[in-house]
Amino acid sequence: MTAIAMDDDTIHWVDEARSQARRKILRLVHNVGPAFLHATDKGRYVAEPDWWWTSGFWPGLIRLASDGDEELNGIADIAEDRLFGILQNDGFFQLHHDVGFQFVPTAVMRFRQTGSPEARRRGVIAAQILMGRFNPASGVIEAWNGKDNRGISIIDTMMNLPLLFWASETTGEPRFANVAVTHLETAIPAFVREDHTVHHIVRFDPEKGGRIEALGGQGYAPQSAWARGQAWAIYGLAIAARYTGVADYRVLSRAIADRFLDLNALHGVPPWDFRAPDAATAVRDSSASAIAACGLLELSALGDPSAREQAEELLRILSERSATVDDDKEDGLLKNATANLPAGYGVDASLIYGDYFFFEALNRLGGGATCW
Ligand code: GLY
Repeated sequence: MTAIAMDDDTIHWVDEARSQARRKILRLVHNVGPAFLHATDKGRYVAEPDWWWTSGFWPGLIRLASDGDEELNGIADIAEDRLFGILQNDGFFQLHHDVGFQFVPTAVMRFRQTGSPEARRRGVIAAQILMGRFNPASGVIEAWNGKDNRGISIIDTMMNLPLLFWASETTGEPRFANVAVTHLETAIPAFVREDHTVHHIVRFDPEKGGRIEALGGQGYAPQSAWARGQAWAIYGLAIAARYTGVADYRVLSRAIADRFLDLNALHGVPPWDFRAPDAATAVRDSSASAIAACGLLELSALGDPSAREQAEELLRILSERSATVDDDKEDGLLKNATANLPAGYGVDASLIYGDYFFFEALNRLGGGATCW
């Protein structure tokens, strides 16, 4: 990865923010070890089962923060072994499109860093599972399992596609990337509105194909703008542009980022949904900002002239308003995140993917490792 040129002031605050975050990560490693985390409750991360969709982020965060420390990488490896173990038991039936979130920050990152053939094998198996969710009738990767979820596609899949692009890169076989591109070509017109906001969920006809309806999902309403969904689209499309060289994906990522920044201008830390009626006072979702910052840094690496400064601004605001710094009562790196307000889950908490992408963005600014 190319290091991004920075002035002295930026180097200083990035270094400081990264050191503070790393200290907290090391403390959490000491307290929870190779666990699977999602959201905090009263400041403490709650352990989740190995098959839960966020299970890749904590081992990924440990590896990102390890700076080559073998003991830390060993803890990430234990978690990866457990995660991969679900292929041998009933956990397998819980897997869905989020195998990208589970295996890119674990096996794929380990392969990128060490060249381990076993890590590569695990990554390619995960990619085969993701590719197996593609429905040729609708032209999309179906997100979830079960009768009620037939034909359902969600915007978050944009950030699982890098697993397919990576699989084509490592095997030399275009079939994985072709599925990713077919998904993109179907999903883009179905999810992205004219004003460059995006839907969370779209239902397609799983037998005949064609878009049926948009659903509100984790957002306020079908026509609203769930903040994290916008961010998944920004980062996912920017990565798709890097892998494919298709300029349209970069341009679209930029347009969705512009809308995100516009909608966020009044808030600093995004509300959970930009179009919630009480957006000015509603609970925030700091994770959306962290993910959007990573997307902007990807756009910057693709040559976008303003994206780096915009990413820095989002990260500075997060550092000032949401970072927990040395607060020992908080396990997470960022407060003010919201997992799923309609379901009442992980509201105004720390979220492991918010922490993960915040740290990844700081790493990226400093020229450090990323895995997508
Ligand atoms: N379903 C993924 C997310 O909450 O962003």
